[in-house]
Amino acid sequence: MRISTLKSSAPAAGAAPLPSESSALVTDDAVVSVVVTGHVDHGKSTVVGRLLADTGALPEGRLEQIRAFCERHSRPFEHAYLLDALKDERAQGITIDAARVFFTAGGRRYVLIDAPGHVEFVKNMVTGASRADAALIVIDGDEGVRENSRRHGYLLGVLGIREIIVLVNKMDLVQYSQAAFENVVREYAAFLNDVGLQPRAFIPVAARHGDSIVTRGAQLDWYAGPTVLECLAALTPRRTAADAPFRMPVQAVYKFTAKQDSRRIIAGTIETGTLSVGDRVVFQPSGKEATVKTLEAFNREAPASASAGEATGFTLAEPVYVARGQVVTRAGEAQPLSARRFKANLFWLGRRPLVSTRDYTLKIGCARVAARVTIEHVLDASSLQRVAVKGGPATLERLQVAECVIDLARHVAVDVESDLEAMHRFVLVDDYEIAGGGIVREVLAAQAGTRPGARARTPQAARRTVDTGRTIALMWAIETARRAGAVVMRHFRQPLVVDRTVSAMRPTTNADLEAHDLITAALSNFDPRIPIVSEEGHIPDYAVRRRYERFWLIDPLDGTKEFIAGIPEFTVNIALIERGEPVIGVVVSPADDTTYFAAPHLGAWRQTGTAPAKRLRSAAAGVRTPLRVVESRFHTDPRLDAVLTLAPVTSRTQLGSSLKICRLAEGDADLYARLIPIMEWDVAAADCVFRCSGRGHQRWSPFTYNGPELRFDRFVLGADELPALREAMS
Ligand code: GTP
Ligand code: MG
Repeated sequence: MRISTLKSSAPAAGAAPLPSESSALVTDDAVVSVVVTGHVDHGKSTVVGRLLADTGALPEGRLEQIRAFCERHSRPFEHAYLLDALKDERAQGITIDAARVFFTAGGRRYVLIDAPGHVEFVKNMVTGASRADAALIVIDGDEGVRENSRRHGYLLGVLGIREIIVLVNKMDLVQYSQAAFENVVREYAAFLNDVGLQPRAFIPVAARHGDSIVTRGAQLDWYAGPTVLECLAALTPRRTAADAPFRMPVQAVYKFTAKQDSRRIIAGTIETGTLSVGDRVVFQPSGKEATVKTLEAFNREAPASASAGEATGFTLAEPVYVARGQVVTRAGEAQPLSARRFKANLFWLGRRPLVSTRDYTLKIGCARVAARVTIEHVLDASSLQRVAVKGGPATLERLQVAECVIDLARHVAVDVESDLEAMHRFVLVDDYEIAGGGIVREVLAAQAGTRPGARARTPQAARRTVDTGRTIALMWAIETARRAGAVVMRHFRQPLVVDRTVSAMRPTTNADLEAHDLITAALSNFDPRIPIVSEEGHIPDYAVRRRYERFWLIDPLDGTKEFIAGIPEFTVNIALIERGEPVIGVVVSPADDTTYFAAPHLGAWRQTGTAPAKRLRSAAAGVRTPLRVVESRFHTDPRLDAVLTLAPVTSRTQLGSSLKICRLAEGDADLYARLIPIMEWDVAAADCVFRCSGRGHQRWSPFTYNGPELRFDRFVLGADELPALREAMS
């Protein structure tokens, strides 16, 4: 099978190809990975050394060698030295690197990670580069619970590690007293309970002497529970979570190169659950469903099913548009939630503090989306107390933990249940660097006006200059569009159809062409450096266009069919696009001498004749508000009826041209949905008017301009508060 990447949905250059190349840690089902944490000097390294020595995992003669070394240098033997001594060891059965020890006991392979609190470790944990199945928390039974005992406990909770074994160490120092053990248990169990963790066991141990590590200690006869090794042996590696609900983040979509073969391979690594040929799958957060036709494999026969931990590709029986970042689930199983706003626990590792006015990139599964963080409380991770911050908690310092609310630029699939960690944990990226990580606690209703990523922030002075420039350009565009409107009106009711050859659906008249000539001449007079993309002009290749910082996007006459039919519902449209967003929009409806115009810093306006211009304010329609729908006059579509059952529709009005969108901005209609393609110039100017018509915030719009085809396939406008409808149309 030959495959090639598909432009629109392939991973960025350098991203992982279909087969997983990740470390043994991620792909080896049989390895149980255990992180060893606890306060300094409480005996973590000694526990690890003991486990190695007492399970016979050490190479022949190694232990004796180190004992002899210690004697020669007159220092007491420490099991903790084993770790240092074995650092470069590559003997079979055991390898050690900076923080990890691999060993085998009872036929099972373990990796112990002895780097608690280490920032790199925490980073690896959140990114999933290494994932611990369980944690040992070592507490000195003599010293008791200390600051890091609590901080690490909290962190384990945030990292989603649920299998916790607490070792109350150095029992020899408290004469193996059951009462001393129970004191520690009481205090620490209460703390863990507060952070939502129920440990699997509390074990009294004396690591230096080996009590309850691998063998039972004679002095601990009152303790009947398992040893540390017995506890480890009872753990299930999470990677074998094959019977959990199915989750596979889509890493890439590939297509077959053979001609006539339009199948797509949807590729990713299965996080939990099992997938079989014939299964009905759901793509979240869109909710689209399809049936698995085949599973695909490289250099081996295609399997009938695949499960957790496997890198897999599959094809669908029905054509469904699937993009990287979506999550595949199985119909009939528990589904993730669709979220654009959620409560989270977040810890910060960034070199500069987290600020609530900055956009970060949130990564969850394979999805990446712009995110804004509102910090609600900064917590001291060891005391779980809220930290008072001067002037409110607007920033989060490195290694601080916060309860916060995160707003996203679009919906993503999340799991609130911690055992489905693939979509439960997320990472925040600041300038290409992982700067924080956390878990999703609760999905909240999205709020209009809190959409991050809409526009880069400029310092105030710079912004004023930009705004002045835009105001002047807007005035020029209004003047130009009105003059073009006058030209169009001269031909109304006696138009000359000059070209039907392109498509009968898209006739052109002398009015279109004259308006085009007038507008392009006027706009190049204004500033010859700004390129013009017009429906009636030559359209540069995408390779050229994609480099445009800003450009005029115009439709000299929208609603040509109405125009030809003598219906006064046509418009002249001029928009200025900057980095994909409309920053100026002018729509002139010459038949009723009305101009709609907008810019983000000025708001949206309508002016009829010479009357004073009126500020336009629309209100987002809510889930329960009765909706007034506007739709195309010539492009009726029965599928739209089905989509509109997702919302409480009270009226449907057919209207020509970009006036439909202007009606939304005026507050005279609530929703405009369309299932057939529309060109960017048909909507850009009116979209700008609509966006700027919100009360105190920008209205939501699905459009980003200057795409490869300058075309939108389907969309809904006005559905800010109607997530189901938006997803159905995305
Ligand atoms: P850091 O890596 O520095 O945070 O320390 P650690 O938690 O790895 O502790 P380590 O294993 O190095 O042990 C610290 C000291 O406690 C060493 O001197 C150990 O010998 C001693 N120790 C460890 N376990 C026991 C024990 O069961 N009893 C007694 N009495 N001492 C112990
Ligand atoms: Mg240590």
